[in-house]
Amino acid sequence: MERRRPLLGKLAGIAGTVGLAGCVNPLSAGRTETDLDLDPNPYGDDLPDRQHAQSAYVRRDDHGNPLLPRHHRVLLLDLAASPSVETGQTIERAMRALEGAFEWAPDGLFHLLAWGPGYFERVDALDGAPVRRPEVLSRTDDPDLLDIDAALALSSDVPSHLDAAENAMFGGRDSLAGSPVEDRLGDAFSTVGRRTGFVGEGLPVEHTDAEGFPADPPLSEGDRMFMGFRSGLRGTQASEDRVTIDDGPYGGGTTMHLSHLTQSLTRWFDAFDESERVARMLSPEFDPDDVEGFTDGVPFSDAVAEHASEHDVVGHHEKVARVREGGEPIVLRRDFNTVDGGRAGVHFLSFQASLDDFEKTRKAMNGWYVRDDSERIRDTDNNGILKFISVESRANFYVPTREYRALPGF
Ligand code: HEM
Repeated sequence: MERRRPLLGKLAGIAGTVGLAGCVNPLSAGRTETDLDLDPNPYGDDLPDRQHAQSAYVRRDDHGNPLLPRHHRVLLLDLAASPSVETGQTIERAMRALEGAFEWAPDGLFHLLAWGPGYFERVDALDGAPVRRPEVLSRTDDPDLLDIDAALALSSDVPSHLDAAENAMFGGRDSLAGSPVEDRLGDAFSTVGRRTGFVGEGLPVEHTDAEGFPADPPLSEGDRMFMGFRSGLRGTQASEDRVTIDDGPYGGGTTMHLSHLTQSLTRWFDAFDESERVARMLSPEFDPDDVEGFTDGVPFSDAVAEHASEHDVVGHHEKVARVREGGEPIVLRRDFNTVDGGRAGVHFLSFQASLDDFEKTRKAMNGWYVRDDSERIRDTDNNGILKFISVESRANFYVPTREYRALPGF
């Protein structure tokens, strides 16, 4: 209940000033299922409260590392309907239709509905909301800074589940798992962007004809990511608890950053051998044999400046690990490979309790602090993987709990 105080205060203020004739239950408008005048979610008991909860549901490898669902889609949405109880009902019922049709599991469907800064501004709740417009975070990138009302993130091991969900929510499909779909997200939103991708063994190697790849990249069936490294080992990820907002009106939710990075992999694979790639991805203190032994984490010696002066190169991992707190990473990455636009890239999707945590991590990745330790380390030269990625766009969102996912803050 504590989470609702600011809103109650705001509405009480309005009630005191102008009155709320015609509003049946003014002090709870729009914030909970009760406010939306809907029955409790019939699937609610079987589902986690957090929309971003997947860790307890995903598959794990032999070392206990989580395996993300293999197929991903993010629909970027503009709220075409006016924010109202009716619109909230439509959105909530539509999300429940997905829950009725698919298990919350990799062979079912994970989904979340997130909300951007423009939406919060529209409902006059941007002040105090844990989301803000994205910014340029390095001096070598010139990304589109997006302000998207909402995003529906879908993931599954079963590609046809993504198609079915998207078509039921926004296309012509009128039933899911044998039940008619009566409310659709498309009744409230229009789609303004679509991000697709995949992660996991066997998938990158199928897409090496995308732009950005050399003719014969050394990727094999076992590779999960385009650059040939394993990402997302459990010791390198923040826990879901760590990235969840503790309390306050947005408590239980999290923030989501989504950027589109394109990759230039010709030089990555052709100009460097494996040990040079290890130096750039992880740290020059490691060689490829060491990496074989990193089964559930990557050691961090916190010696980036020393590595710069000794080796004239620093690694991506050792730079971003500098922002760990109490020895633990502060962002939870759920990024995936993409060939959207025909180009090799990554949709970098991360959760963090505060967008500050993302920005702090991204600035650590810039590596400006070692420029005096080596003349050969420049903005992108010999500076982790920065030479091989370009940021095309950035967008920020707030991810409410499941209960508050329809029109948060309204
Ligand atoms: C093409 C883009 C990227 C690739 C291929 C990549 C790859 C990797 C790899 C291989 C690791 C170490 C292994 C592991 O994750 O278990 C790692 C760690 C990490 N990366 Fe990236 N990364 C990319 C972009 C980013 C971006 C944009 C950020 C955030 C600004 C980021 C933040 C992190 C963090 C926080 C860690 C873990 C650090 C720790 O252990 O404390 N990465 N990345």
